[in-house]
Amino acid sequence: MNNYYSGPGASGKEDYLAGILRAIDTFPSMPSFVSSIIDLLHDPNANIQTIAERVKFDPGMTANILKLTNSAQFGAQHRIASLQEAIVRLGLRQLFQLVVSAGISKRMTRPLPGYELRADELLSHSVWAAVASAELCKALHINAHDMLFTAGLLHDLGKLILDDFVQNEKGHLQELVQLNGMTFDTAETEVLGMSHAETGAQVLIQWNFPEALSAAAAWHHHPEYAESHKDIVMIVHIADALAYSEGVGCGIDGMQYELSTEAVNQLGLKKETLEYVASQTLSKMQQLEQILKG
Ligand SMILES: [Fe+2]
Ligand SMILES: [Fe+2]
Repeated sequence: MNNYYSGPGASGKEDYLAGILRAIDTFPSMPSFVSSIIDLLHDPNANIQTIAERVKFDPGMTANILKLTNSAQFGAQHRIASLQEAIVRLGLRQLFQLVVSAGISKRMTRPLPGYELRADELLSHSVWAAVASAELCKALHINAHDMLFTAGLLHDLGKLILDDFVQNEKGHLQELVQLNGMTFDTAETEVLGMSHAETGAQVLIQWNFPEALSAAAAWHHHPEYAESHKDIVMIVHIADALAYSEGVGCGIDGMQYELSTEAVNQLGLKKETLEYVASQTLSKMQQLEQILKG
């Protein structure tokens, strides 16, 4: 339990919000090695060779990139053994996905008692949403957007920060959900001053990640309110709902999930598409999850 809000009189919404903002500020950035790779990926003068040179200093990352490149999710056709070939095969955008996945996945394995998620459950839920987002994009023939996997992976990042706060106010939050019919994220905003969705978005803004990722995190429960990157936000929302309907990482807030009819209609989603995406996701995510757990 953190001590941002401990002490007499420190239980009002303003105190919680101040505590959440401090927790966002002090939330550890990506490991410095990961940030240095991300910087290099954004550097117009960097090329695959310079990036491979940097990556190979981290044996764990090199092993992960090779394992992931050879996994079904990344469409391996033949065995790839060299790092440089793996990076060429992936392209820089997919390399970004892998580096972010390797940088964040370990943090998602801890239990989150506030959200009633056991060890590894947030990671399973996030990997499911990541793979399903990418699969939905393919099935709907939407211009394949390279950010979708990462957007799915990071949509619930804010839960890592909000968990202690949710734990402290669990009874109150559940009351608002059960008696007043609020969705869980709306109850978070009501009681704590900020939802896990907004909290995650703030972290991603602080990390200087692409805007599509912070938009997907901010609006994944209410895609109809997104002002930009709407396709990405709607797809992450549907992938998230699909994870819940498959019972992957439901926790405390899974039962009250409100599916946005606007997103379903705008994407022209059919039941068969959802079933197809769910089966594709199931077959691809298990191997990926094993690799990311390390
Ligand atoms: Fe969420
Ligand atoms: Fe989620």
